[in-house]
Amino acid sequence: MSTIVIYKTKYGATKKYAEWIAEELGCDMVDAKDIKIDDILKYDTIIYGGGLYAEIINGVHMLTKNMDKLKDKKIAVFTTGLTPTDCRDYYDKMVIEKNFKLGVPENVKLFNYVGKMLVSELSLVHRTALKTLKKLMQGKENPTDMEKLLIELCDADGDFCDREAIADLIEYIR
Ligand SMILES: Cc1cc2nc3c(=O)[nH]c(=O)nc-3n(C[C@H](O)[C@H](O)[C@H](O)COP(=O)(O)O)c2cc1C
Repeated sequence: MSTIVIYKTKYGATKKYAEWIAEELGCDMVDAKDIKIDDILKYDTIIYGGGLYAEIINGVHMLTKNMDKLKDKKIAVFTTGLTPTDCRDYYDKMVIEKNFKLGVPENVKLFNYVGKMLVSELSLVHRTALKTLKKLMQGKENPTDMEKLLIELCDADGDFCDREAIADLIEYIR
């Protein structure tokens, strides 16, 4: 069984998880920008990781737009984000709806991990986007619990990556 971990990262959190997963499984690992769909098809098991940006899994369309070609593969998609992993409502509704418009295919399983955000590393565009989002949420008259959480998360500053968290994905692949 050949396995590959593909990752797309902006600040390194997803790459860190990809390295941990590839190390545990002793499999290939590649940056998404260095691989094409035809090369991915050579593998039986595909693990794809991307950071969450406004609920979009960075780069996952590489897989979602090719699902017909990938229907016989075992696929794990992992996300890294700042939303706590027990926020299943958020994950199931927003993240799944935005990234898997036709629903999650049977051969795909999703995993979510907490990533990192260091304010000192953020691009100006991202810093501005977070400021705007925070202002928007703060302007709401009756913010929902999720909106309150988002206001807090806009100020997050730290590396919360946790190697132990990948145990569920490793077990699923093995
Ligand atoms: C502009 C911006 C938008 C973000 N949107 C989300 C989001 O929708 N959900 C979430 O859980 N985390 C969100 N995050 C946090 C990132 O997903 C988190 O920092 C992740 O670990 C980044 O992964 P990477 O470094 O591999 O790109 C956002 C961060 C930034 C800077």
